[in-house]
Amino acid sequence: MGVQESDALDVAAIRDEFPVLDREFDGTPLRYLDNAATAQTPKRVVEAIVDYYYGYNANVHRGIHELSQEASIAYEEAHDTVGEFVGTDRREEVVFTKNTTEAMNLVAYAWGLNELGPGDEVVLTEMEHHASLVTWQQIAKRTGATCKYVPITDEGYLDMEAARDLITDDTEMVSVVHVSNTLGTVNPVRELTDIAHDHGAYAFVDGAQSAPHHPVDVTDIGCDFFAFSAHKMCGPTGIGALYGREEVLEEMEPYLYGGDMIRKVTFEDSTWNELPWKFEAGTPSIAQGIAFAEACEYLEDVGQDAIERHDRELTEYAYDRLSEFDDIDIYGPPGDDRGALVSFNLEGVHAHDLASIVNDDGVAIRAGDHCTQPLHDVLGVGASARASFYLYNTREEIDVLVEAVDEARQLFA
Ligand SMILES: Cc1ncc(COP(=O)(O)O)c(C=O)c1O
Repeated sequence: MGVQESDALDVAAIRDEFPVLDREFDGTPLRYLDNAATAQTPKRVVEAIVDYYYGYNANVHRGIHELSQEASIAYEEAHDTVGEFVGTDRREEVVFTKNTTEAMNLVAYAWGLNELGPGDEVVLTEMEHHASLVTWQQIAKRTGATCKYVPITDEGYLDMEAARDLITDDTEMVSVVHVSNTLGTVNPVRELTDIAHDHGAYAFVDGAQSAPHHPVDVTDIGCDFFAFSAHKMCGPTGIGALYGREEVLEEMEPYLYGGDMIRKVTFEDSTWNELPWKFEAGTPSIAQGIAFAEACEYLEDVGQDAIERHDRELTEYAYDRLSEFDDIDIYGPPGDDRGALVSFNLEGVHAHDLASIVNDDGVAIRAGDHCTQPLHDVLGVGASARASFYLYNTREEIDVLVEAVDEARQLFA
């Protein structure tokens, strides 16, 4: 297989780190192009989990004994590594959550339920993932606040003129996806954060599709919150992170109550632990947290700039190849100006059928609404197929996808 075709990365060496990529189905090799849903996990991340369970499995924070101290140090330091990965050196600002969705819910419940009320507005975009859209919609319902949505242009960019009109002094929160998981649009989050702050609102950036693919610096963006999931960036499932500006997290009420998040408890009342533990009630996902840090270090060792270049090359290649066909509709901005994914439809073939046909050639892509139903309504389609790329993917895999799409075309002709 022509794996040495990336200008940016030694893909053959990288693929050796991911045993699952050797899978075959009746002799047909796997071509894994579903990375926006979840990425594969390299050996060293899995080994970090094994090392923990074989070497120092113990509960954290509360132990005097040696094993617990080792686990506590590793788990706590994992916050530092994950924080540095997105540009903060303050442990207080890094809360481990289950995933991006839980990070969003944490802020919506802990801040939104207490601070929002009738007359207040939350500004989202038409391209939000359900993790953000449904969460703010439901919190708005409970508080009497209103959600407003920045529309997209025909090219799949945010209409920034509309954004400037929609974000007003009534806005309390601007919650925006950094890279759309359906359109691939890379949103101007620095500009949106500035507009939010000009009106006294907070800015929440959903980094689920950005943190895995290019360097992120929350200080440069200036946002108050940033959320991302380990499983989309070579880490395990069950762990993600919320970056929150310290002053804001300090003012927020806890989200979950229980052990570890308290300082002093009496029968009458309780006080809260310091950050970030105030937001991590109960026994946390210790092994996953440690492995999340290992995944960050892995991506840094490979080189985030190189990964970004590689992903861009592949994305542009996939966009160009799929654009060769008049009967394929691609959603979102041009191939050289998007995140590492391409969503599309083949005329006359439902996305589910397409995904099923390419699966026969070992190609794993996503089909459906990608948790962006309202966006698909705007696009005027019920579903789309999505191919998404990462550091171990090759042009050859994209060629197989395009050939498989051609087979689908002939089957349905
Ligand atoms: C843009 C975006 N936001 C949020 C999420 C939710 O991530 P998780 O399921 O890890 O909570 C996803 C997952 O696909 C996503 O693509």
